[in-house]
Amino acid sequence: LANGLGLTPQMGWNSWNHFNCKVDEKVIKETADALVSTGLAKLGYIYVNIDDCWAEMHRDAKGNLLPKNSTFPSGIKALADYVHSKGLKLGIYSDAGQFTCSKTMPGSLGHEEQDAKTFASWGIDYLKYDNCYNDGTKPTVRYPVMTRALTKAGRPIFFSLCEWGDLHPALWGFKVGNSWRTTNDISDNWNSMLSIIDLNEVYADLARPGGWNDPDMLEVGNGGMKNNEYIAHFSLWAISKAPLLLGCDVRNLTKETFNIISNQEVIAVNQDSLGIQAKKVRMEGNSEIWAGPLSGNRVALVLLNRATVPHSITGNWDDIGIPENSVIEARDVWEHKTLETRFVGNLTANVEPHSCKMFVLKPIA
Ligand code: DGJ
Repeated sequence: LANGLGLTPQMGWNSWNHFNCKVDEKVIKETADALVSTGLAKLGYIYVNIDDCWAEMHRDAKGNLLPKNSTFPSGIKALADYVHSKGLKLGIYSDAGQFTCSKTMPGSLGHEEQDAKTFASWGIDYLKYDNCYNDGTKPTVRYPVMTRALTKAGRPIFFSLCEWGDLHPALWGFKVGNSWRTTNDISDNWNSMLSIIDLNEVYADLARPGGWNDPDMLEVGNGGMKNNEYIAHFSLWAISKAPLLLGCDVRNLTKETFNIISNQEVIAVNQDSLGIQAKKVRMEGNSEIWAGPLSGNRVALVLLNRATVPHSITGNWDDIGIPENSVIEARDVWEHKTLETRFVGNLTANVEPHSCKMFVLKPIA
């Protein structure tokens, strides 16, 4: 969407994966505090996004959405002021239907202009727009209504389409929003994570600065996967130019979780100025090679082992898109080491079960 936002994939946090409907203003404020105190905000995690369940079931007499009194008693404007005072941005959630998916609050269908104005007046910076309880008309009809409403509301608001990939939003989303979900919801396990990133990969050519494929929010730190699996999860999201929206409780991070989500070299791959989504360029059984161009003639490479036994995996220049005779210096971005070996033609690494290796390849001759 040509609103000047999302020139690199959005980064931040969202309440849904960890808190579901148990979200309140205390959680939001403490999360904002934690993003700053941990240093994550400085690494780019600036959006603090409230998901479903923040509003009363009934609108006020004038038809305005009302923050839920029991959980957001100070109102959203005060919360936005707080979040802004920390140098962060506040996101909110609604739905292109009669209710949101939780059915605990109204959706915005038929109230687009009014709700967009309300969000702008509160100082909202980001809207995630879900697809439950819609009227059966196509998302290509309902979502642009909110796009226009946001544009008219007079405040730059990142627009995140959440129609779950139903109508191939990658094909029409660029004019409507800054990102579009390509899949159903992620679950905190290895198979779900992989199935989601596979579905998302199909649309790689359609992602670009201003509009990104969204394979759903991160589960890193929520406890359902092993550390090596979470490293693979984060690596695949980074190389796929996916939104990096943390979905864990950032007030209580383990050292392992923090080390994953704070890896600046991996974040830099995600936030690279070219904004080209990597592809699965080759698969051999459970061994996969994911690669995509980076600025400065560099290439990002993930060697993924989906199997339960170790594998030696080779990435060939031919598949990766590097000229045959290039001499390559490889930076292991999880080990934080530049390998001493110079590589010509290919790079081979041993990869543990349910793990990946991730490199930034740089031509030196
Ligand atoms: C469905 C969406 O896909 C989820 O990300 C989340 O927003 C829930 N709805 C909330 O009800």
